[in-house]
Amino acid sequence: MSIHKPIKRVTTHVLIAMKQRQQKISMLTAYDFSMARILDASGIDILLVGDSASNVMAGHETTLPITLDHMIYHAQSVVRAVDRAFVVVDLPFGSYQGNSKLALASTIRIMKESGAHAVKLEGGSEVSESITRILSAGVPVMGHLGLTPQSIYKFGTYTVRAKEEEEANKLLEDVKLLEELGCFAIILEKIPASLAKKAAESVKIPVIGIGAGPDVDGQVLVTHDMLGITKDFQPRFLRRYLELFDEMKTATIRYINDVRSGDFPNDQEQY
Ligand code: KIV
Repeated sequence: MSIHKPIKRVTTHVLIAMKQRQQKISMLTAYDFSMARILDASGIDILLVGDSASNVMAGHETTLPITLDHMIYHAQSVVRAVDRAFVVVDLPFGSYQGNSKLALASTIRIMKESGAHAVKLEGGSEVSESITRILSAGVPVMGHLGLTPQSIYKFGTYTVRAKEEEEANKLLEDVKLLEELGCFAIILEKIPASLAKKAAESVKIPVIGIGAGPDVDGQVLVTHDMLGITKDFQPRFLRRYLELFDEMKTATIRYINDVRSGDFPNDQEQY
C-alpha cells in the first residue's frame, strides 16, 4: 500500500515532485507491446525504450549497432501499450554525437513517429549543444552519466566508473551542467554509491541509479535482467525477481513432449 495518492499519468512535473516528496521513482526498460502492457499495469513510473534492445532483443554484443529506425519501431510498440508511465527513448549511437542539428532531427523523428514523451542521451559537456537544441524544440531530455555503454570502446570494459577523483569531479560537474541546461532527470550507471549520493544531493532534478547504490531518487534495471531472462548477465547490482529463462525453458520442454507424445491437443482443445 502506497502512502501517496495514485498518479493518473506520469509527467516530468510528477517526477520532479516525487523527488521533492522523497518518493522513489521506479523505472524499467521495455521494447515491445506485451511486456510494456504488464509493466505499465504494475504501476511502473518510467518505461525506458533503451538501446539495450540492441543486446536484449537483437543479440548484439554492444549497443552500437541499433539504428534510429529500430528504436522508433520499439518505441511505437511500447507507446501503444501505455496508459500511465512516462516513456523515454534512447537516442542511439550515431544519431546525436557531435552534431546538434542531427540530434534534433533524430529526436523529432522519435517524437513524431512513436508518440514517446522524452529522449535520453549519453554524456555531459561534450553533448551540451545537442541537449540545448533538443530542449529548444520543447522535448524533455534525460541525461546519462557514469558508465555510458555507447562509449564502451573508449572505456574498454564495463567496470565501475568514476572511482578516481578526476573522473568523479568531472561527473559531478556534468550533473550540475545537465541540470543547468534543463534536463528533467539524469541516469547514473555503475558508479560508487557515495558519489551517486553526492550527485543526487547536488541537484533538484531526479537522479536515477543503476548500480549506483540506494541514495538516489530512483532505480532502473533492464527488465530482461530483473526477470532472469538474460541468464548469463549477473552483475553485483542486479536483483533478480524471477528465473524466467529456466521457467520458460521448462514450460517449452513440456509443450514439446506433449506434442511429440500426442497428448496435445486433447479432446477439449479442438473444434
Ligand atoms: O539502454 C538501457 O537499457 C539503459 C539503462 C541501462 C539505463 O540505458
